[in-house]
Amino acid sequence: MAELMGACEAVVASGQYVLGAQGEAFEVAFAAYCGVAHCAGVANGTEALELAVTAAGCGAGDDIVTVANAGGYASAAILHAGATPVYADIDPLSFVMTAEHFLQARTAATKAVIVTHLYGLMADMPAICEAAGRYGITVIEDCAQAHGASRDGRKAGSWGAMGCFSFYPTKNLGALGDAGCVVTRDAPLAARIKSLRQHGWGEKYIVPREVGRNSRMDELQAALLLRMLPYLDRWNEVRRNIARRYREAGITGVRFQQVGREEGYVAHLCVAFSERREEIMAGLQRAQIGAAVHYPVADYAQPGFRKRMGDVAPLPHTEQALGGIFSLPCFPEMTDDDIEQVIRVLQHHGQAL
Ligand SMILES: Cc1ncc(COP(=O)(O)O)c(C=O)c1O
Repeated sequence: MAELMGACEAVVASGQYVLGAQGEAFEVAFAAYCGVAHCAGVANGTEALELAVTAAGCGAGDDIVTVANAGGYASAAILHAGATPVYADIDPLSFVMTAEHFLQARTAATKAVIVTHLYGLMADMPAICEAAGRYGITVIEDCAQAHGASRDGRKAGSWGAMGCFSFYPTKNLGALGDAGCVVTRDAPLAARIKSLRQHGWGEKYIVPREVGRNSRMDELQAALLLRMLPYLDRWNEVRRNIARRYREAGITGVRFQQVGREEGYVAHLCVAFSERREEIMAGLQRAQIGAAVHYPVADYAQPGFRKRMGDVAPLPHTEQALGGIFSLPCFPEMTDDDIEQVIRVLQHHGQAL
């Protein structure tokens, strides 16, 4: 806390509040953490996705494959960029996109794929990148729930052409307000994002190439994130341990997101599935335990999105997952007692099933 207050005071005294020295220092540190050369801080995770889609050269007439079970952020970003979302189904046990489903969803107009690493679990990036490469499709990673996650020792955000992060306060690395970033290995892409995040400017006030938007990260958030980044791996370990305790409690009638080998999984949300979800959630609510559904409606069924993209056939695994998933409390501040209480309530319902 003192460290964070000190960081805030330093920003207040600096007189520089948007896109300054703190932002640059955070960009350098976060790029290094992700194992890439570049990072561009932006205002939030949704705009990180939108700017990445635009920087990938996608707009009107282009299809972008993504999943429909990840809260609608990618769909909104794609639609704002003028492109059209096309939905791939998910693996029924791990709830993330597979290469096979990506290829099934691909159309002749597909120019990019947004792969969401959902609930802290990375999708099969070796297979998806290989499949996308075959068709010249740009891979964009949505890492908003996967700070520090990895696969084969390579971090989320370092597999695709660009990796998009949200630093919303509840994320594994969360600011005290809104913030986001795009990481990339590619210098021209980084330069394009840095122009797009500030109105499309090259030199100040000059728009040489394309219209951007105002999506800048402020210095307070950058300074706070810079101080918190060294704790991220430890916090991820705590989250992973909580999720493991739930999984190993042996609860009847409940199955957990299949995460495979645990290293590399960062347990952003501990998501379980049950045919009796409503009953279980009511029990948790009675015990004043916060449980939620991430997310209750598939993107293609959202009335607001459908106005823009028309009717889309429902996807079987996506529909099945949405019918039974629920998220258990899983965050570093939980006490042992908090965790035990959740397990007790789940066991009580398990016995009743
Ligand atoms: C998977 C996913 N993508 C994108 C976002 C968007 O981030 P933000 O809320 O910072 O716009 C979020 C979080 O809110 C998210 O969970």
